[in-house]
Amino acid sequence: MDNFEGTRAVVTGGASGIGLGLATALIEHGAAGVVLADIEADTARSAAADLSGTSGVQVVGVGCDVTDPDSVEALRSEADRLLGGVDVVCLNAGVFAGGHVWETTDDDWDWVLGVNLRGVVNGVRVFVPPMVSAPTPSQVLITASIAGVVAAPASGVYCTSKFAAVGLAESLHHDLALVGAEQVSVSVLCPGMVRTNIAKGDRNRPADLQDATVSDATALAAAGIEDTMGRGIGPVEGARNAIAQVCDGRFYVSTQPVELWERLVGNENDDRLAGRPPRFQMYE
Ligand SMILES: NC(=O)c1ccc[n+]([C@@H]2O[C@H](COP(=O)([O-])OP(=O)(O)OC[C@H]3O[C@@H](n4cnc5c(N)ncnc54)[C@H](O)[C@@H]3O)[C@@H](O)[C@H]2O)c1
Repeated sequence: MDNFEGTRAVVTGGASGIGLGLATALIEHGAAGVVLADIEADTARSAAADLSGTSGVQVVGVGCDVTDPDSVEALRSEADRLLGGVDVVCLNAGVFAGGHVWETTDDDWDWVLGVNLRGVVNGVRVFVPPMVSAPTPSQVLITASIAGVVAAPASGVYCTSKFAAVGLAESLHHDLALVGAEQVSVSVLCPGMVRTNIAKGDRNRPADLQDATVSDATALAAAGIEDTMGRGIGPVEGARNAIAQVCDGRFYVSTQPVELWERLVGNENDDRLAGRPPRFQMYE
């Protein structure tokens, strides 16, 4: 979509960071109503009250666990009830775990793939069919990561989940074209480093998935993230960049100016074309 005037949006992981930034940017682009959906229901409600107060737009916080298909169905019903329909869905909720690939625990895999991949799958299953049926323009924005295109060390489970999210977004684009649903646009958001709460994501780790990888590599990944993220862009500024790039008709959008995407992905593609192993690149 190149215009969000009057649209009704749902943002998962909307209580914090990039999700809250996306809600803010959509409102600046004319969105008429936004639901902030998050596993932290209270934080979502208080963030929604703040954003509604500053913008004058209807913003509502709703509790939702994106790993649970029933919870995502319930979110859709609640958004329909509150907003009268959904034109924009930002499938953005995500978590991080670090560690070498060979030592990453089953619980790490289940938690990270559950939120970052199955969460997106659940969102697509619930929100896309009504968009395909409706004649009006709509937008799906899937938050992956630059780590979904350019892998990083000590982050295998996260990179795997984000490469999968990019693949899913590309497939979704093809499927919509196949059925002639040109009114439904898809973009995949591949943020660089953004100053958010993701390094404290463990706060939402389910009780039955607590067996986390604890190793020097994990500590290194966490420290690297904290350090690089400190030099990252602010979440609202990053989300403004992302929504502006969606409006420009880009499929791959970033929280950073497109020049960073071009440099990092250009280097990655050079290595792939030459058959070389990927070089290590900082996301900045
Ligand atoms: N911060 C970065 O530098 C960066 C870089 C690339 C990609 N991303 C991606 O951006 C997205 C947003 O992350 P962020 O950096 O704003 O982090 P954040 O921790 O500030 O926000 C993530 C939100 O997701 C919510 N969440 C976690 N599990 C959930 C679940 N099961 N169901 C519903 N909500 C859940 C959290 O409560 C939180 O509000 C994620 O997909 C992340 O992987 C972030």
